[in-house]
Amino acid sequence: LLSALTLARRAATLPGPLHPEAVDAISFDSGFASPGIFPDLTRAAERALTTYRREALQYCLPFGLAALREWIAAYMRDDGVDVDVEDVMIVNGAKNGLDLICRLFAEEGDAVVVTAPMYFTAIPILRSFGLSFIEIPQDREGLDVKQLELRLQQRERDGLPPPKFIYDVTDFHNPTGITMSLDRRQALLRLAGDRSIPIVEDSPYRKLRFEGEAVPSLKALDRNGMVFAVGTFSKLIAPGLRIGWIGADRSMLRRIAQLKSDGGTCPLTQRIVLEFFKDDGLTQQLVRARTAYAAHRDHMVAALRRELPDVAFSAPHGGYYLWLKLPDGIDSGVLAHRAFEMGVSVIPGDAFFASNEPGSARSKGVPKHHLRLAYSYSTEQEIDEGVNRLSKAYHSLLS
Ligand SMILES: Cc1ncc(COP(=O)(O)O)c(C=O)c1O
Repeated sequence: LLSALTLARRAATLPGPLHPEAVDAISFDSGFASPGIFPDLTRAAERALTTYRREALQYCLPFGLAALREWIAAYMRDDGVDVDVEDVMIVNGAKNGLDLICRLFAEEGDAVVVTAPMYFTAIPILRSFGLSFIEIPQDREGLDVKQLELRLQQRERDGLPPPKFIYDVTDFHNPTGITMSLDRRQALLRLAGDRSIPIVEDSPYRKLRFEGEAVPSLKALDRNGMVFAVGTFSKLIAPGLRIGWIGADRSMLRRIAQLKSDGGTCPLTQRIVLEFFKDDGLTQQLVRARTAYAAHRDHMVAALRRELPDVAFSAPHGGYYLWLKLPDGIDSGVLAHRAFEMGVSVIPGDAFFASNEPGSARSKGVPKHHLRLAYSYSTEQEIDEGVNRLSKAYHSLLS
């Protein structure tokens, strides 16, 4: 009976798993956090369930707990953003924030600007709204704004409407690790402002900088209220909390509040996070996370240079990922498959291109010579062992 049901178009395609079955592989694939950095939230949870019991176990209003919104507004102000509590809404993680922004703007058939490659979990979210993609490459300074301008001009000449928004990960981009330069940020804001195109700035790794100076966020540079800043505690505290936020003009947030269908983000978790902050938990947590991930990065970089000198990459100054360029003639899908057989899972780069639809003609032209490696989750020992297995897989393809 179930097979006779007519599903919505958005549910009709079911991508296969990246790997056929989970075995005991070392995982360089997903952006899981290192369990070693999870803080002890026991005291915070106890206070949430005793002192704040009535609030924590009740429905929460769509905007979230006022105290947490205040805290996030102050956190954003410290980062140069001119924001007030009214301009902050709590959501169930950054992905939920993106989903809500799509609900606000997207009609079936609209277009959205993304980078090529892009954060691959955002692809099915955007697709589920029937959005089509305007894919713009990046160079070392980030999204190529000149190319974007040319593409927008071409759309105008073709009589096509402008895109509904521009989606980008401006700091330690997933998967490329690139941080957009200040000049590029200003150019992007000028272009978007001239054409009244909102920008969704998804920046979960911003505070995970291991070295160098932070560049002001698009949201901090924005003078027109066109930037929707999507934030999350997933990469700083723990992804299982599912607490994120949208920082945007209050007039937009009021509309989004009407579209929120979750009965409010869990107030218990919001309160646990707040109680954790009261003990100055985040300051220590950031040190812990940066120290751990910088060490993981250094370890993986050293192992790759030692074992796979033919593979090109630049070490990012923060975030979770390395974006590898394989030598000519090596297909990343074949290598990922062989690596998995040898006990290490990695994601072939074509999965990060919105135009990649496995089995479809549209996938032609998608580059097949990149791999994304996450150094976040594995221990240093696993990193050594995993890179060794990857190297064996690579060399087996050469012979
Ligand atoms: C660019 C980007 N946005 C969002 C997320 C997920 O954030 P959340 O767990 O808050 O949904 C990730 C996690 O990998 C990410 O890399």
